[in-house]
Amino acid sequence: MDNFTVLGIETSCDETAAAVVRGSPPGPGEILSNIVFSQNEAHAPYGGVVPEIASRAHLEILDGVIESALEQAKVALGDIDAIAATAGPGLIGGVIVGLTTAKALALAANKPLIAVNHLAGHALTARLTDGVAFPFLLLLVSGGHCQLLAVEGPEKFWLYGSTMDDAAGEAFDKTAKLLGLPYPGGPAVEEAAAHGNARRYPLPRPLLGRPQGSGMAFSFSGLKTALRQLVQTGTVDVNDAAASFQAAVIDILRDRTGNALSRFQQDFPDTAAPTLVVAGGVAANFAIGSALTVLAESRNFGIQIPPPNYCTDNAAMIAWAGLERFAAGVSDSIGIGPRARWPLDPGLDGGHGDQRQDTA
Ligand code: KG4
Ligand code: ZN
Repeated sequence: MDNFTVLGIETSCDETAAAVVRGSPPGPGEILSNIVFSQNEAHAPYGGVVPEIASRAHLEILDGVIESALEQAKVALGDIDAIAATAGPGLIGGVIVGLTTAKALALAANKPLIAVNHLAGHALTARLTDGVAFPFLLLLVSGGHCQLLAVEGPEKFWLYGSTMDDAAGEAFDKTAKLLGLPYPGGPAVEEAAAHGNARRYPLPRPLLGRPQGSGMAFSFSGLKTALRQLVQTGTVDVNDAAASFQAAVIDILRDRTGNALSRFQQDFPDTAAPTLVVAGGVAANFAIGSALTVLAESRNFGIQIPPPNYCTDNAAMIAWAGLERFAAGVSDSIGIGPRARWPLDPGLDGGHGDQRQDTA
């Protein structure tokens, strides 16, 4: 099959990123460049992403980031087959900056434009890095989302369950804030947890063993409340609290994912070597990855967790998701608009993206 070369642009949250990827489905692809400019420092004083600061920062540095990505890949814009950019879901100001820049480049260089769903970028990363075949079971755990999906094609997703309140990464970020750990919270909590006693503080595991949402829904808000109450009681050992929190998250993810493995086997009984893919920023957590590896192997599933720098937001995953659509003969009109909300499962998409409960 032909090899395609795609430029990807990602600006939906607090990473300004551009990358050039080459290859063809099912992957793996070649990552010719992958520039990620993190705005962590700009948002750290606020303990979270400030949308106005994010979109201004994207606007200031995106051109330079794209130039660096092309330079490092040693390709000219003319050598690119298509330009892919995140068109949602995410912080709308940032998405507008990235998508508009992609449109301008596409028009100037007379190249096709591919509008990419950020979540599809996370979902398809395991094909870019490891060539995982369809269908696979996906646990998508990021700062804005926590869901289980069956993935049958680059645009074919079946939602099994999602969070009823917070996303997994959001729970990590809020826990870090409560414990006085630095932003972004996930890596800081993981580091503290590595030095703590997970049995020190008994914390709740919401929905564990319960059938809500066919046993594949998530809830983290009760855990957060329990942690806040714990902190309010007075002196708390930060490492032990982080370890106790992370252990609760692991139990929740393992229980829900276990149910989804059963459901996937029912839905796709002919899949010879079924695979669990874990994607999104929280998939960078080693303890979570280890627990899910044990689970998958005990159930005769393979497991793929992309390397940590491809789990967190990047543009290589956007370029690859664009490449998959381009290879399937799809491109988008220059008039396509940005979307703050955009679920992966078309069954949940009312067309406006804001008519039903979303998981963000
Ligand atoms: O996918 P991502 O980079 O951005 C979104 O699309 O949301 O995910 C960011 C989230 C943040 O909430 C961050 O705290 C979390 O992923 N995260 C982690 C780790 N690294 C990043 N959570 C737990 N452990 C980690 N090592
Ligand atoms: Zn993301």
